[in-house]
Amino acid sequence: MDYPFWDQPIGYGLLMAMISILHVFISHFAIGGGLYLVVAETSARKRDDQPMLDYLHGLSRFFVLVTLVLGALTGVGIWFVIGLLSPAGTDLLIHNFVWGWATEWTFFVVEIAAAIIYYYGFRTMTASNHIKVGWIYFVAAWLSLVVINGILAFMLTPGAWLESGSFWAGFFNPTYFSSLFFRTGVCILLAGLFTMAVASKQKDDAFRGWLVRYNAWWAIIGLIIMVPTFYWYWKAIPAEIITTALASMVTPISAMYKSFWYAGTLAVLVVLFGLILPRKQHVVISAIMMIVGLMYFGEFEWFRESIRKPYIVSGYMYGNGIELAKAETYQNDGLLPHIAYTTDNPGADLFNRACRTCHTIDGYKPLAPVFDGTDEAFIASMVRGTDLMKGNMPPFVGTEQESELIAAHIYSKVDNRHLSEIYNLNGAALGEKVYQVRCGSCHEFGGFNDKAASLVGLDADGYSDMLDMAEFLGEGMPAFAGDDREREALIAYLLTLKPAEGGADESAGL
Ligand code: HEC
Ligand code: HEC
Repeated sequence: MDYPFWDQPIGYGLLMAMISILHVFISHFAIGGGLYLVVAETSARKRDDQPMLDYLHGLSRFFVLVTLVLGALTGVGIWFVIGLLSPAGTDLLIHNFVWGWATEWTFFVVEIAAAIIYYYGFRTMTASNHIKVGWIYFVAAWLSLVVINGILAFMLTPGAWLESGSFWAGFFNPTYFSSLFFRTGVCILLAGLFTMAVASKQKDDAFRGWLVRYNAWWAIIGLIIMVPTFYWYWKAIPAEIITTALASMVTPISAMYKSFWYAGTLAVLVVLFGLILPRKQHVVISAIMMIVGLMYFGEFEWFRESIRKPYIVSGYMYGNGIELAKAETYQNDGLLPHIAYTTDNPGADLFNRACRTCHTIDGYKPLAPVFDGTDEAFIASMVRGTDLMKGNMPPFVGTEQESELIAAHIYSKVDNRHLSEIYNLNGAALGEKVYQVRCGSCHEFGGFNDKAASLVGLDADGYSDMLDMAEFLGEGMPAFAGDDREREALIAYLLTLKPAEGGADESAGL
């Protein structure tokens, strides 16, 4: 809580996703491109294949530009954004890995210098010197991945670092090697896909067919590396993260399944248009393959980022920058005394610290749809119950009074009309909305913490009694704070639920 809060209208997650996905694509692509250039050049020089050398020369110009300009710009952009979004997390990564970063930047400088020499020396240097520079370019680029991969993997699986705080324990963490090899596969895949697109523009038919097939092999080798190394990566993630994800996290798991589909589609396309019908390869087809490849990798990154929830660094710091070790102190003292930069609106300050890194009121991951038409007592109980809801949120740390301040702040920003008026509903339909708003974040029919077994099949009195005693139904379950109209509607809705064979009617409440 030692940094000011950067309040801006875009969702932080979205901003981070945009810049980092772009950077991650470019950086992997640059590494794969370096390897492709030097390997292809070596064999072309042996064969004395001038058309191939000309093509590589053109390609090297592109790779140099991409690495230098876009790679460097987006890399700086990432620092800029993470520093503003999550100063505490950035501070942690810098302090723990300061020599790692220094090493990574050194490799990057070497990579850039070698890439420039490689491009400008293509026709003037001797073949063997030029190839040496090519290897320096690739190896430096890959070594920067070797370093940064340690820090990225650390965030999901800090491993023994949590106890020892040792640099090496954090760096060579449980997912280090699987992630390094997986990412190396990504580099090779992206190089193959991109060069296939370039190859499909070659004029000479025979050369084009040969080149497309050659480049397709790169893509296939990349894929072949990625499949088992992903499995290895998945197995290296601690079981408790996987179990929670499978039980309650929709985002990472569906991202993972989507990535499998993209990988399968890609494999079929590459074999078909790369190996079997290379001369049919068209720029449009190769552009589609490139997009599918990027989606595949993008889904993986999405999976990796979202499976880490609710943490920035698993088991150490929550997504809102609160360290687990300090949670108890904040719980006792309240959060406010620990916020170094405050405004004259404590409710807003608290909201920013506790919720705003992940939610907006009515933009990205909006809270308004859940809180429109409700009351401060309900909002306060929800603030205190974040860890009981779907979404794998960090627990609220702060006092009861602070939860009320946050509630008052949220209440002042949402629609305060009655639910029936906002949504123009009555009777059981209004009741369904009441359920969605007042119960649905913690109990989904057929989904998260389903209470159908207790909620289906009572009579009106039974429901009424249940709502009277709501706060005693279980630890963390809030009192029912809706008015009589909402209560009647909710009961009318619950009465429509029918028990199904072998369980509750799953479609009823969704
Ligand atoms: C580390 C990120 C994070 C923080 C911090 C966080 N949330 Fe969430 N919250 C989520 C995610 C993710 C979901 C799941 C919904 C989704 O995927 O869109 C969620 C869901 C919710 C929901 C349920 C929405 C629904 O659709 O039923 C509510 C209500 C909510 N959050 C309120 C809060 C409040 C209040 C705070 C602050 C005290 C807070 N959250 C802090 C990430 C966070
Ligand atoms: C902030 C989260 C939250 C909200 C909102 C919430 N509940 Fe609960 N509910 C809980 C928790 C936590 C428990 C106790 C632990 C458990 O059983 O999961 C619980 C328990 C229950 C139980 C009894 C436990 C059982 O297994 O039979 C019922 C029934 C129930 N809730 C229904 C509701 C209804 C109806 C609403 C809306 C009016 C609601 N809950 C709103 C969190 C919530």
